[in-house]
Amino acid sequence: MSLISRFKSRYKDLQKITKVFIQQPQLSFKRLTKLPANLRGFNYSQEWQPSAVTNKQPSFSGLPAVSQSSNPLKSYINSHKEGKGILKWDHYFDIYHQHFKKFVGHEVHILEIGIFSGGSLEMWRDYFGSKCHIYGVDIQEECKMYENEYTNIFIGDQADRKFWKLFKDKVPVVDILIDDGGHQAEQQIVTLEEMLPHLSPGGIYFCEDIHGSYNDFASYLHGLINSLNDMIQLSESGISPTQFQSWIKSMHFYPYVTVIEKAERPEEKIVATGHGTEWQPFLKF
Ligand SMILES: C[S@@+](CC[C@H](N)C(=O)[O-])C[C@H]1O[C@@H](n2cnc3c(N)ncnc32)[C@H](O)[C@@H]1O
Repeated sequence: MSLISRFKSRYKDLQKITKVFIQQPQLSFKRLTKLPANLRGFNYSQEWQPSAVTNKQPSFSGLPAVSQSSNPLKSYINSHKEGKGILKWDHYFDIYHQHFKKFVGHEVHILEIGIFSGGSLEMWRDYFGSKCHIYGVDIQEECKMYENEYTNIFIGDQADRKFWKLFKDKVPVVDILIDDGGHQAEQQIVTLEEMLPHLSPGGIYFCEDIHGSYNDFASYLHGLINSLNDMIQLSESGISPTQFQSWIKSMHFYPYVTVIEKAERPEEKIVATGHGTEWQPFLKF
């Protein structure tokens, strides 16, 4: 990057920061006070070293959850030597199986953004079985050729909200969304904002290729995490969750991947219950 383009990029960043400070001064300042802890965590992880205990064999089985032999996606990819291309990081196959296995064999509606050479769409069909419905989205017209009786292809830009409106008019249910499209933060953000509310209860939102530390989409996700930890509507009977908390069951982070699981039904209260009769006096609740 030349000095001029680096300067331009810094200037743009500064403009963005100024804009949010003008729009939400208090919240922006509060977030700024979190910067030291954020950097502290980053620095800690950069210098992190395993201790001697990590050289031991795991003392119980069951975790690491998915072994190569029991993951049909791994068997599929390892034997896929010819035909339509599939481009994925190797470690994604365990993550897919971990979150997707409950849908195998059922009537599941899967959307993958980013079709490229069509191989991953075939893989989903093989994995989920003949009852699944597959929707593919790509910006390139050429990808229309992968349409068939169980796969619908939509040509459009995932960063275009109007495209998603048309898509949702045509596709009423999506159970699993895999964002493997352009991988730019703005594309990932628009896609999430348009499609996370549209995901069915119990559905899975899977975003791939979140690359680089201090990635803008990752920062956006950290904003979502702040909401997940909200404790704003506290009462005697517990916490009345926000709409976001009541529907977002969990968020999972892996190298380059974030998975968001939607609740099967909304959580109505978040409560903490004491169980037992013997308590130390130093804490009151
Ligand atoms: C990494 S490839 C997808 C790989 C494929 N899913 C696989 O597993 O083999 C990325 C795809 O995203 C598409 N793409 C790039 N920008 C896009 C955008 N703004 N909207 C929709 N698709 C986009 C590209 O045309 C390309 O086909």
